[in-house]
Amino acid sequence: MSKSQYKRVLLKMSGEVLMGENQFGLDPKTVNRVAEDIKQVVDGGTEVCVVVGAGNIFRGVSGAAAGMDRTTADYMGMLGIVINALALQNALENIDVQTRVMSAIPMSAICEPYIRRKAMRHMQKGRVVIFAAGTGNPYFTTDTAAALRASEMNCDAMLKGTKVDGVYNADPAKDPTATRYDRLTYMDVLTRDLKVMDATAISLARENDIPILVFSIKDAGNFDRALKGEGPYTLVTNG
Ligand code: GTP
Repeated sequence: MSKSQYKRVLLKMSGEVLMGENQFGLDPKTVNRVAEDIKQVVDGGTEVCVVVGAGNIFRGVSGAAAGMDRTTADYMGMLGIVINALALQNALENIDVQTRVMSAIPMSAICEPYIRRKAMRHMQKGRVVIFAAGTGNPYFTTDTAAALRASEMNCDAMLKGTKVDGVYNADPAKDPTATRYDRLTYMDVLTRDLKVMDATAISLARENDIPILVFSIKDAGNFDRALKGEGPYTLVTNG
């Protein structure tokens, strides 16, 4: 049986993944299925930490576009992330996966504050650490939070679980001739403005030499398959 190529990874998921087929909010069936995917990887011996977004609850950028103060909108998004993190923690603990939620914005009654060394200890003990509230700062995306935490945790890879199985040269939902890239460099992503992650996140991953795997988390088992080098995905590295 093939083995994961990585010892410690960060999984980045958009909030939209957790809403399943719904238009907003959380779909318990999807949350449970994602939890099963994470358990499969943890049981295989890989240390996992997670960063989720909040697009299923509130998108800071959309709030700002609708006339809301950008910083307020971003803080509302960060609170949305905490809701998603608690839902995922609950689903993981229901299937006996030990987890700790650590928030970049301290809210001690709900979860632990983010302390890097404490997070490291949790990971060494095989617990799944869910990083909540992004970086704790407005103007930074959850992709950037993911690249930051992956760097701080010395992760061997960052996996971006999306609704499509990699990065395409056009939108595969609109263009049937769109083709998927197997491999890209960080520079390709930056110079061609490919929508993998925002430029801040890509730069951080590049500086810290953390490979990014973009894969579809829509189907069960894909997280594990991607870590074993199986299944379709796009790998972004220094080349
Ligand atoms: P060890 O140091 O390995 O024992 O880690 P631990 O997380 O099991 O120990 P700790 O005694 O720090 O935590 C026990 C429980 O309390 C865990 O479920 C933590 O998530 C939780 N906990 C710890 N600190 C906080 C906090 O500041 N706020 C909240 N809400 N929970 C916390």
